[in-house]
Amino acid sequence: MKQTVLITGATGGIGYELAEVFAENNNNLVLIARNQTRLLEIKQLFEKKYKIKVFILGKDLSEKDAAVEIYQTIKQQKITVNVLVNNAGFGDFGEFHKTDWQKQYEMVQVNIIALMQLTRLFVPEMISLNHGKIMNVASTAAFPPGPWMSVYYASKAFVLSFSESIAQELKHTEVAVTVLCPGPTETGFVEKADLNDSKLFKSNNIADAKSVAVYGYKKLNKKVIIAIPGLGNKITAWGQRFVPRSLVRKIMYKKQAPIR
Ligand SMILES: NC(=O)c1ccc[n+]([C@@H]2O[C@H](COP(=O)([O-])OP(=O)(O)OC[C@H]3O[C@@H](n4cnc5c(N)ncnc54)[C@H](OP(=O)(O)O)[C@@H]3O)[C@@H](O)[C@H]2O)c1
Repeated sequence: MKQTVLITGATGGIGYELAEVFAENNNNLVLIARNQTRLLEIKQLFEKKYKIKVFILGKDLSEKDAAVEIYQTIKQQKITVNVLVNNAGFGDFGEFHKTDWQKQYEMVQVNIIALMQLTRLFVPEMISLNHGKIMNVASTAAFPPGPWMSVYYASKAFVLSFSESIAQELKHTEVAVTVLCPGPTETGFVEKADLNDSKLFKSNNIADAKSVAVYGYKKLNKKVIIAIPGLGNKITAWGQRFVPRSLVRKIMYKKQAPIR
């Protein structure tokens, strides 16, 4: 029997590629994002191409009750979610004291609160059914502090810590948790985070979203808890444990600074 995978942020970038990888592997999908026109296009494409069922739900995850409304709709539809992929997220570039407050607030709602609440709502049924998987999309930004993108880095540090903690709590159950930590990846992220001026996306090898999604899918199936695609990203993420934190802060400040 087909499993059902719920993916947030499925209209573009890594989320879209994850949706296609799960579709190729014969899973039904529940896809969530704000852009309903794009969701409908993806539904029609995937249902025809992969002979699966795709349920779409237009939701703004920055709204306070979004996760509860999603859960209620899924229950009304009598859909059982076997895999939950909390992928939706965005960043913002600039010094914190100059940032737009509303954007930082919405980032916390989407990157942290919606992810946390969807997990809280869907995990109990997975435990009672004796199987389930969660993939939370963090970032290599989860490991160091991130001057010039302080709220984004802090939000991803939350996702990493939270995911590792619940993975350990759920060890005695059949529910597995993977936290995917991509490095810079070619998606709509740079544009939306006003990152065009940062050195970060100029100085690194940029991964393609498809390979990140395929990597995440494989690691989720192997029940790997922390999944970092790419050797360079692994070295950067783990290597900083051996560098004084004061130096990491300074390096990150320089690495992410505006080009001019
Ligand atoms: N790209 C990178 O370099 C990179 C690196 C590490 C981690 N990540 C993480 O990977 C995840 C996916 O990002 P991406 O790079 O694929 O970015 P993307 O191309 O901008 O895609 C983001 C997705 O999230 C959805 N989304 C954004 N805000 C939303 C909201 N308020 N409510 C509902 N959906 C929302 C967008 O859909 P709508 O606009 O239709 O709502 C879109 O489908 C994020 O968590 C990001 O932090 C990205």
